[in-house]
Formats: sequence, structure tokens, C-alpha cells
Amino acid sequence: MDRIRIVGGQRLQGTIAISGAKNAALPLMIASLLTRETLTLHSMPRLADVTLLGRILGNHGVDITIAGKKAGQSTSDGQTFRLTSGDIVDTTAPYEMVARMRASFWVLAPILARCGEAKVSLPGGCAIGTRPVDLHLSALEALGAEIELEGGYVIAKAPKGLVGGRIHLGKVSVGATHNALMAAVLARGDSVIENAAREPEVADLANCLVKMGAKIEGIGTDTMHIEGVTSLHEAEHTVLPDRIETGTYAMAAAITGGEVFLEGARPDLLREALQLLQGSGVEVEETATGIRVARNGSGLEAVSVETQPFPGFPTDLQAQLMALMCTARGVSEVRETIFENRFMHVQELARLGANIDLNGDTALVTGVEGLTGAQVMATDLRASVSLIIAGLAAQGETLIGRVYHLDRGFDRIEEKLRQCGAQIDRLSG
Ligand code: UD1
Repeated sequence: MDRIRIVGGQRLQGTIAISGAKNAALPLMIASLLTRETLTLHSMPRLADVTLLGRILGNHGVDITIAGKKAGQSTSDGQTFRLTSGDIVDTTAPYEMVARMRASFWVLAPILARCGEAKVSLPGGCAIGTRPVDLHLSALEALGAEIELEGGYVIAKAPKGLVGGRIHLGKVSVGATHNALMAAVLARGDSVIENAAREPEVADLANCLVKMGAKIEGIGTDTMHIEGVTSLHEAEHTVLPDRIETGTYAMAAAITGGEVFLEGARPDLLREALQLLQGSGVEVEETATGIRVARNGSGLEAVSVETQPFPGFPTDLQAQLMALMCTARGVSEVRETIFENRFMHVQELARLGANIDLNGDTALVTGVEGLTGAQVMATDLRASVSLIIAGLAAQGETLIGRVYHLDRGFDRIEEKLRQCGAQIDRLSG
């Protein structure tokens, strides 16, 4: 199994191109199931999750071509995918596939909407809590689907097609909003989704669906009105920049006392996180083409935060912020409100010398003078990158195991960090 080795203590300095957002790319790929015609997606990130989802969609009959690099393009431009789902050849998404990536559960709605039936395994994914799917199922039931659970599978049927209805999501859920939206666009009549997730990746999916011919109002708000259409058509869409990657590199620059330009980053996608960084003493400058982050000389101050749905501070940046706070002056309080088991990085950060006291959903991080390199283990996607952030600041060598978690969600991370002066490499085997 690959490991990542970091020799800490180098200031990050340079430019990092921000990739297309993983959490937008995945539902956008899945949306290709909604039409027989071709969906073209630009700025697709190079990620293991994207490759895996491509394989899963291939099983359903989606034909995917990835355009080669054109003259003048570099790997930082992202890839162009053309997805054509002429006929859905298989309406079942098997356990072996869905267990490897939770987001693939979202094929449920488009396959049901298009074929009148779908059988999808209950998901697996990151080990960060129980992560039920009750909201997904009740959303589909609100549109007339009959749902049964059998042998670990969800079997959804709507032989006469889905019908518009009122979907009230009892809790803000990104995935359930994606599923509800993809079902409602092809339902007969009008639907409303209440308490919809306002995450930018939901809006990105909705904007792409509109380009495909869907009728959606209220995009970006917590109430979306959808007028069902009988079919969708071809479209072309550019994936929005990854706000989690942006925040991650901003924190990496901050912990090393460096200065990095995050090219292509959009500050409006992570206001809360940027304000928090400023509150801890990091300089953040917004420009027309990206965000410049710097910390020159001055130390970091402790900040307290609670994770919240968008526009609040994202749970997907909680581990990284905690790594940053390990060396800040004072005590930071980090409260996780979205997932109950998202603190697995705490014991690994402690191996690097962090002083973190965990109590239920709250971690108290008391800043230490410095971290020291150690062998640590990645446990989930965001936890693994928090170890990279800590490793960049730690004295000596940090060896991170189980890095396949990282490859799921961070596009060429070693390359991007190395370009800015980090001493980081991958040890194979
Ligand atoms: C998505 C993101 C993930 C992010 C999360 C929250 C992708 C591929 N993944 O995951 O990176 O951390 O949003 O921003 O986009 N819940 C229920 N019942 C359900 C569905 C969810 O109770 O049917 C709960 C979950 O357990 C969790 C909360 O709702 O406590 C939010 O989860 P949700 O927004 O659905 O997360 P995902 O869509 O899986």
C-alpha cells in the first residue's frame, strides 16, 4: 500500500491551481443517466472517485469518453468527459460498487425516473458515522415511488412514472437534495423541495439540469420549485471549483507561514472559512482570478468553530482546521454537528504532538509550540489531508499510511504541494 512521506518545515510558496469540485463532479456524472443525449463536463478533476463512478455508470450503460489534452493545455486544466446514456442496460447498482463509494447511491433517482424501477445497494463510503438514507427514500416516496428494502438493497418502483409532489427534507442533506432534484425534473407535474441543501454543489447540479432542459426555480435557496419535463437533452457544463480543496490549501499555506495563490478559487464558495482564517491572523486577499493566502511572521491565534450546512463552516474542512489550530496560540473549540464520528484524525494528530481533548461532539485544541513527525494512518478522506497539513509543519519526517483515501478526493496533491516547495513524495508498495 502506498504511503506519503513529508519532511516538514518548508514554507509553501507559489501558485496552486484549484481543480473542479469532487462533490459537484460526482452528481453531475450521475445526471447523465437522465438523458439519452450526451452530457459534456469540463474541468473534471483527476480522482479515484471519478474513475470508480465512471466504472459504475458504465455498468448501467453509460458510455464515457475522456477528451485528450489539447495543445496548450496542462494537467491543471482538468479533463473533459462526454457521457452518453443511450439505453440504461442495467437498473441494478450492486453492493460491490455502491459500498466503495457512497455517492453512487444517488443513481437511484435518475434510473428510477427514467426506467420506472431501480435496485440499488445500501451505501458504504467514508466511516464517519451511520449515514442513513431515510431522507432519500422519503423524497422518492413523496413523488409516488414504491420502496422496499430487501437483502441490503433498496428496490424502488414507479411503473407509471413519478408524479410531482411536496418533498420536505427533515434535515439538510446534500445527497437527498441531489436525489430529490434528479427525480423531480422528470416527474409529471410540479414539485417543491423544502429545506433543500444550499451547498454550491447542489446549485451546480441544478444549473446543469437547467442547461439540459429542466425547469427549476429557487436554485441556491432552501426551497426549489421544479416543473417536470418529459425528457432532457444534451448540454455542456463546467464543474465549479473545489471549495474544500481551496480551504485545504489555504490552511496548508497558513500552517507553514507561507504565501500561496489559489488560482481559480472562488471566495464566495467558502466565506465562513476565509473569515475564520482571517480571524486567526491569516492574510486573505481576493482577486479576480483567485485567492491569495499568506501568513508572514506572525503566529496563529486560536479560533472556535461549529460545522454547519452551507453557508456555515463545512464539515469537510473540520479536520484540516483542527490540524491548523494544533500550533495556534490558545485553545480552540471545534464542534462537529453534521457527522457523529468525524474525529478519527484526533488520535493521529496526537501522534504528531497535538494536544486535543475530545468530549462528545466537541474537541478542545490547545496550541503547542510545534509538532514532530511520526508515522500516522489516514482514516478517511478529509482526515488524511489534515495529517498532510500537520506533517507540512511538523519537525522531521511524517509517514502517512492508507493514502488511498486521499486519492479519492484530492487531485494530484503531492504535485501541487511540491510545486510550492513542500518536501513530499509517495512511497509505493
Ligand atoms: C455530502 C458530501 C460530503 C459532505 C456532506 C455534508 C458528496 C459526495 N459528499 O455527503 O463530502 O461531508 O455532504 O456536507 O457530496 N442524513 C440522514 N438521512 C439521510 C441522509 C443524510 O439523516 O437520508 C444525515 C447524515 O447522516 C448527516 C447529515 O444528514 O448527519 C448530512 O449528510 P448529507 O448532507 O446527506 O451528506 P452526503 O450527501 O452523504
